[in-house]
Amino acid sequence: MKKIALGVTSSISIYKACEILRGFQKKGVDIQVIMTPNAAKLISPRLFSALSGKKTAVDLFGDADSDRIAHISLAEEISLLVIAPATANIIAKLANGVADDFLSTFFLAVRCPVLVAPAMNEAMYRHPQTQANILRLQAAGVEFILPEKGYLACKEEGWGRLVAPEKIIEQGLALLEKGESLKAKTVLVTAGPTREPLDPVRFLSNRSSGKMGYALAGEALRRGARVILISGPTSLFPPLGAELLPVETAADMAREVKKNLSRADVLIMAAAVADFRPAERSKQKIKKKKAPSALNLVPTEDILASLDRPGGRSKKVIIGFAAETANVTANASRKLREKKLDLIVANDVSREGIGFDSDFNQVVIIDRKGAVAESPTASKRELSRLVMDRVEGLLGRKK
Ligand SMILES: Cc1cc2nc3c(=O)[nH]c(=O)nc-3n(C[C@H](O)[C@H](O)[C@H](O)COP(=O)(O)O)c2cc1C
Repeated sequence: MKKIALGVTSSISIYKACEILRGFQKKGVDIQVIMTPNAAKLISPRLFSALSGKKTAVDLFGDADSDRIAHISLAEEISLLVIAPATANIIAKLANGVADDFLSTFFLAVRCPVLVAPAMNEAMYRHPQTQANILRLQAAGVEFILPEKGYLACKEEGWGRLVAPEKIIEQGLALLEKGESLKAKTVLVTAGPTREPLDPVRFLSNRSSGKMGYALAGEALRRGARVILISGPTSLFPPLGAELLPVETAADMAREVKKNLSRADVLIMAAAVADFRPAERSKQKIKKKKAPSALNLVPTEDILASLDRPGGRSKKVIIGFAAETANVTANASRKLREKKLDLIVANDVSREGIGFDSDFNQVVIIDRKGAVAESPTASKRELSRLVMDRVEGLLGRKK
């Protein structure tokens, strides 16, 4: 029996939390309710204790005699945290890592997927601060089921109404299921740029931010996979739970991929690996007066071409990425064939506002049969879902 934690905060729609609890129970899910102290001023925690059959957690320091640290041990037991209804206040606290009560502290301790269903007055919902907090949490991998337009408790019609409990239950159950879909699989993801040094202080690199690779690693983790993330230098925080192997040059990246490939069922090459590097690397900083008038470049190792794949294609699922500035589909299709990939995800990096360093992208996904699927412009998070859905399909076929 799967166990989830239901976080309940002090929104006027708190009464719907009882229905959410019952709905999950009917689907055979075990529930531990956690209320904020303010929520406990609106409804007695006893009601939730009676419905769930477990003492509702409210006070972080409540059980003075216990030798368990309740929020840590509970975090290890659950497969999903649902916060419904979620106030503007809890969203702000989660977005900023504030941990001053049981629920907000618990949020920082969990490793499972988190689903947040906000409910508030329209002005509070539309406030730029609330919107920024939601975006920040979404970027960190928190799932949202955003409020609807409707009649609000403040007697106004507007955005901010908690979605119907059935929708929260449906999305929660989908997350529980997805949390297992890549269980026992290991996904190796490469991400970010590489740096090819000229001297101890200068290097050649590219505009990759690593956001796509990190989003893929996060999505694989949410589906229960073991994730090895081989990353060039980025300013991103690695997804929790990933085994991070930081590298700098294309040669470092090639070495780490070869070393770890045997452990992986899936290889996703999302890194923007340098195609060439300076032929010479000066041990000392090159002095301004001695600056070379031209740079001599040599090709770096082609990682995908160098992989040992007996019989041409291995049982592993191998996905490549192509950053193109023209003839995107034709160039990507050629790369797919030449490198014996199962799938290639290509994008036009010459387009403004998407691709490199952006949170958004628009891609074409091409498979071995030549089928081309064009995505809408979407967040890298959403695109990572599309790619991982395809990975699951390919894994099924390679069994
Ligand atoms: C009757 C009442 C209803 C409220 N409803 C909401 C609401 O729907 N959404 C919201 O964000 N805040 C609402 N608030 C304000 C929150 O309760 C307040 O911001 C509180 O500090 C949130 O605490 P918590 O997030 O720890 O539960 C309401 C307050 C009261 C008194």
